[in-house]
Amino acid sequence: MKGILLAGGSGTRMYPLTKSVSKQILPVYDKPMIYYPLSVLMLAGIREILIISTPRDVDLFKELLGDGSKLGMCFEYAVQKYPNGLAEAFIIGEEFIGDSPVSLVLGDNIFYGSNWSDVLKDAASLTNGGVIFGCYVNDPRAYGVVEVNEQKNAISIEEKPENPKSSYAIPGLYFFDNKVVKIAKSVKPSARGEVEITSIIKEYMRRDELKVELPGRGLAWLDTGTHESLLKASNFVEAIQKRQGLYIACIEEIAFRSGYITKQQLIELAQPLLKTEYGKYLVEVSHSINNAHVTM
Ligand code: TTP
Repeated sequence: MKGILLAGGSGTRMYPLTKSVSKQILPVYDKPMIYYPLSVLMLAGIREILIISTPRDVDLFKELLGDGSKLGMCFEYAVQKYPNGLAEAFIIGEEFIGDSPVSLVLGDNIFYGSNWSDVLKDAASLTNGGVIFGCYVNDPRAYGVVEVNEQKNAISIEEKPENPKSSYAIPGLYFFDNKVVKIAKSVKPSARGEVEITSIIKEYMRRDELKVELPGRGLAWLDTGTHESLLKASNFVEAIQKRQGLYIACIEEIAFRSGYITKQQLIELAQPLLKTEYGKYLVEVSHSINNAHVTM
């Protein structure tokens, strides 16, 4: 399975913060926002990742993350000229995807919960069809909404409905087989002019090839698209990290615990960060190879 991280968009709901810089480079407590969705793909066991951003911002991410080799990963980059919709990621990424299945994660989504990496690895093992998630939220009107029956099969999908048929919002994380490229190419732009991910999901549903996972209360899903939600996400990350002493979305730790980099490489990655708690944490992690279960 390959991964695409879509980190473009216009970020107009966060102006003036995002007038001259990408939303996904902004801090969520102690690390850039993009670390969080990146950690999701890494926890799913995906090592080849295409990062898509705007012509203005793509170099920022190259500078931040490089080619991924320091993490035992492989990162490529591509540009989305205009924010034409989420489904365009599969068209931009066609060559990168090749004949592989692919996961798409949005650059402003944060996930944290127990057994989450098992759920992710399970979804990433798909060979046919698609997997999406349904997260129970108080007000799903700003999201794609999935209605499920008793067998947890999707019975309706609606984009930002006025009157939602369920409380299950679809977060920005999707797993599809290789047919997704062809399906994305056949999708017509919606009334708001975007190639909608919901059109793709509906096509998988029509083919009876869509699985909906409902992670339940154990999973915290946050998005960070407004000033308020960004601050809340930062406070959440700080609270968990301070209380547990375990970090959320520490990509160096994930690379180490996954066996992609050695203890020595982790210690080297920590060196320029030693003035920070983050850097000290990496050194601590390098001494604790036997408790992989703690965060993974
Ligand atoms: P949105 O939050 O829907 O859009 P946005 O980030 O442009 O922000 P705003 O509504 O404030 O103008 O996007 C969700 C995520 O998807 C976000 O990480 C940006 C990304 N995205 C793209 O990269 N390309 C796109 O065409 C769209 C629609 C979103």
